[in-house]
Amino acid sequence: MKELLELQNVVFSYPGEKKVLQGINLSVKPGEKIAIIGKNGSGKTTLFNVIMGLLKPTEGKILFMGKDIEDKQSLTFLRRKVGFLFQDPENQLFCPTLLEDVAFGPLNMGLPPTKAKEVALETLELVGLTSLASAPPYSLSEGQKKMGALAAILAMDPDLLLLDEPTSGLDETSQSKLEKILSESEKAMLIASHDMSFLAEHASKSFALSNGTLTPYDLGARTDA
Ligand SMILES: Nc1ncnc2c1ncn2[C@@H]1O[C@H](COP(=O)(O)OP(=O)(O)OP(=O)(O)O)[C@@H](O)[C@H]1O
Ligand SMILES: [Mg+2]
Repeated sequence: MKELLELQNVVFSYPGEKKVLQGINLSVKPGEKIAIIGKNGSGKTTLFNVIMGLLKPTEGKILFMGKDIEDKQSLTFLRRKVGFLFQDPENQLFCPTLLEDVAFGPLNMGLPPTKAKEVALETLELVGLTSLASAPPYSLSEGQKKMGALAAILAMDPDLLLLDEPTSGLDETSQSKLEKILSESEKAMLIASHDMSFLAEHASKSFALSNGTLTPYDLGARTDA
């Protein structure tokens, strides 16, 4: 099957710092769910930011659907197809109401306002936040923000989800909603998390990020449970 996302020898360092990513090779096929584990500070969030073009790799190549992501146009293409759930949902919602935030993506993709609102309402229902549709995002709890941000991403119907610590801050009800959504979804996913049982349940393949490189990791064989 053709690759959806491919990283070839991606290197990244923050200005004046040593390399965080030291030659990442990774390929994600359509529908593939891949776990990324790694200690605090190992570079998982950095890797996601590099994939989204929020940080520019110092070396290497990123291909999405076979296209080299090298200019503004190809980056816009990637961003339409890849949904990024931030580790810290604080900065992900910025509209006056949650409904507007979730409708923002579909509107931006050219859906008429009534259709965008319909999609947003459906997606809010999916994540269990219908009652907060008119609430200003800043008034939401951390877990509600995370689920709200997830709705904003899902409303755009991306092909690939980058989920950075998706379970952090979620109560049992929200976590089971998230788990149901992920299990039923056929989208490809990269999931960075410290929650090993969650990863074992939802990922079919996993890698450990350590010393700036990815190594295949067997979640079933871990000894730190
Ligand atoms: N804006 C920045 N400027 C300089 N260094 C940074 C910046 N952001 C992160 N770093 C450094 O890059 C390294 C990787 O950080 P990153 O946030 O990617 O790790 P992580 O694997 O996501 O950690 P966690 O499990 O805590 O979320 C760390 O050493 C961190 O201090
Ligand atoms: Mg992180």
